[in-house]
Amino acid sequence: MKFFLDTANLNEIRDAATFGIADGVTTNPSLIAKEGGVDFKEHIAAICEIVAGPVSAEVTSQDTEGMLREGRDYAAIAKNVVVKCPLTREGLKATRALSDDGIKVNVTLCFSAGQAIMAAKAGASFISPFIGRLDDIGEDGLVLLQSIIDVYRNYEWKTEVLAASIRHPIHVIEAARMGADIATMPFKVIDQLFNHPLTDKGQAQFLADWHKSGRK
Ligand code: E4P
Repeated sequence: MKFFLDTANLNEIRDAATFGIADGVTTNPSLIAKEGGVDFKEHIAAICEIVAGPVSAEVTSQDTEGMLREGRDYAAIAKNVVVKCPLTREGLKATRALSDDGIKVNVTLCFSAGQAIMAAKAGASFISPFIGRLDDIGEDGLVLLQSIIDVYRNYEWKTEVLAASIRHPIHVIEAARMGADIATMPFKVIDQLFNHPLTDKGQAQFLADWHKSGRK
C-alpha cells in the first residue's frame, strides 16, 4: 500500500520525506487555505519538488469548462501533478475529458460505491472514498472502502482506490488489510503509526541494562 500525505504544509511534507515513506501528497482547498496566502500554483510546484510521486491539486470551479481550464493549467505545473475533481456530474465530465487528454485525475468526495463505479467509468486514475467523514455521521467508512475494493476487483479498471479522510492508525491498518492501493493521511497519523508504549519501555530497559553492566 502506498502512503500519501494529506497536507499542504511543506515542513510536514519534508519531514515525512525524510522517513522515505511519502509516496505522494493530496491537497484540498481547505488544506491550502490553512497555509495562509500562498500562491496556489507556486505552492503545488514546491510540493512537487519534494515528492516525486503523485501530488493532487484540486479544482474549485463548479462547471466542467472551468474545471478543464484549471485542470490543464495545474497539470502543466509538474509532471507528477494529478488533478483533483469533485464527484459531481460536472466533475466526472471533466474527469473523462482530462483523462482522455492523458491527464491523471483523482476523483474526490466519494461517499458511495455507486459513485466509485461512475468515477471508474469516467476514467479516473484514483477514487477517494472519505472514510472519516462517514464515521463522523454514524456510518462505517470502512464498509464503503471494502465495498469499492470488492467491486473494482471484478473488473480491469485502472482506477486506484485511495482511502481518504483517514483519522487514526486503525483506519490505515484496516485499509491495508482490505488491500486498498493507497492511504492518504495527515502527518499526525503517520507519526502515530510508529508508536507503541512497549517499544519505548523495552528500549529504555535495554539501554538501562547496557549501562548498568558498565558499558558506555
Ligand atoms: C483527500 O484527498 C482529502 O484531502 C482528505 O482526506 C479529507 O480529509 P478530512 O475529512 O480529514 O478533511
